[in-house]
Amino acid sequence: MKKKLQYVLGLCLITIMFSCSNSDDGGTEQRLEPITAAFEATISTTDPNVLILNNTTTYEFDFTSSWDYGLGDPAVTDGPGNEMVRYATPGRYTITLTVTGEGVTDTATQEILVDINGICPDGVCSPVEPEVPLEPQVGLKDFADFSVGMAITLERLNIPQHAEVYRKDFNNLTAEFEMKMDIMHPTPTTFNFDAGDAIVAFAEANGMEVHGHTLIWHNEFALPNWVKNFSGTDAQFEAMVENYITTTLQHFKGKVRSWDLVNEAISDSRGNPLRNTEGNGLGSIFRQKMGPDYVKKCFQFARNADPDVKLFYNDYNMASSVSKRDAMFRLVDDLGDLIDGVGAQMHISFNSPSQSRIQQLVDGVVSRNLLLHFAELDVRVNTEGNASLAALSTPRAEAQKAKYKEVVEIYNAIPQANKFALTVWGLRDNETWLTDFWKVPEFPLMFNDNYTQKPAYDGFMEALTVD
Ligand code: G3I
Repeated sequence: MKKKLQYVLGLCLITIMFSCSNSDDGGTEQRLEPITAAFEATISTTDPNVLILNNTTTYEFDFTSSWDYGLGDPAVTDGPGNEMVRYATPGRYTITLTVTGEGVTDTATQEILVDINGICPDGVCSPVEPEVPLEPQVGLKDFADFSVGMAITLERLNIPQHAEVYRKDFNNLTAEFEMKMDIMHPTPTTFNFDAGDAIVAFAEANGMEVHGHTLIWHNEFALPNWVKNFSGTDAQFEAMVENYITTTLQHFKGKVRSWDLVNEAISDSRGNPLRNTEGNGLGSIFRQKMGPDYVKKCFQFARNADPDVKLFYNDYNMASSVSKRDAMFRLVDDLGDLIDGVGAQMHISFNSPSQSRIQQLVDGVVSRNLLLHFAELDVRVNTEGNASLAALSTPRAEAQKAKYKEVVEIYNAIPQANKFALTVWGLRDNETWLTDFWKVPEFPLMFNDNYTQKPAYDGFMEALTVD
């Protein structure tokens, strides 16, 4: 028994020894050939963040290879050809190649550095040039002692060329349509301030103010259908309006410090009464449902909601129509301390209204110790209604420049205590609402379609800088 056990043990021992040694097909033992891992790493000539890895390991027997790119992922088997690896984030990475032959294995590693310029050649990163802060461009706002305003849309804020001009020349933004009731109160039970919040965020990031426009406007394009077709009682309508004003002003409190609370409440018809039941979208559901003192009610709701916000009444033809201007002053006088300012929409023409008419309006506001907002400035040049007008003639461009300069000079001359803002209603001529409104080409603004400044811009600047 003992002899037999010794024999079996000896046989196992030989077996174990045999399996640990390398032997070729002839069965003769061979020494294990060591394997040495090797690879080349080359930075791509087309993308400085891409490394080309070439496995240069040589071994006389079959072997397998795997890569660890140092990106935190599991090792991957080395495929045919080179490996292309992208290192997008600056940092330090260790690349490891593992090769395994007949019972032997080896690894090769290489560390790389990546900075904002890409993979650093031979691990040496070029010194990163300190970002030279762009000199803030000087523009209209830098020469005015009042806010220089611009009507914007969220879409245009996100266009780089627009944003560049907005930052250079303007420091007060008015949403052309995204802060009106149809957008902000889309259903009886929901509010949507997303667009307004995004506009406020842009303004805050660029040291600008936002002027809220406009909470209460009868215009069919500014009202949600559920309001136009309101099915409740008048008392329910008034409660809805109070809730809308309160909710909106409290949402934007401290971020939007001024609002056109009520817009265009005065009719253009004889005697300039409050808009009421006129047809063709000219009537006011607010007047119909809340009565003749609805404007005062709305200002009271607003004052209750935010004692600090600046509240404006905003309307058009305030200079060109003496009767409408006087109707506005009657309305404003009735509001007493509830109102802070008047927004005079300056949708004018190159030749009208006259300097004296504009001055009379200004004098009326100043004499009431109210803030004056020259709002919505644009200067029509195609007053003849020429449907084929393809461009602005030089003489008409010069006349437009003179009108811009005249308006800014008038505004610039008012007492500082009455200054609020002068807002232009759009950036480039091809964005103006007037083309759709008058159904003929118009060129009423200060910038051409390619963002170059027109003589009108020079007129604005000269009014600020030329004594
Ligand atoms: O751009 C959007 C488009 O993405 C969307 O699909 C479409 C449908 O909802 O609407 C488009 O927006 C339109 C916007 O103009 C484009 O700028 C709105 O529908 C349209 O209602 C809006 O019209 C604005 C209008 O007030 C009514 O809110 C004009 O831009 C704006 O210039 C005009 O401005 C008024 C002042 O608020 C008050 N004074 C008069 C002035 C001119 O009417």
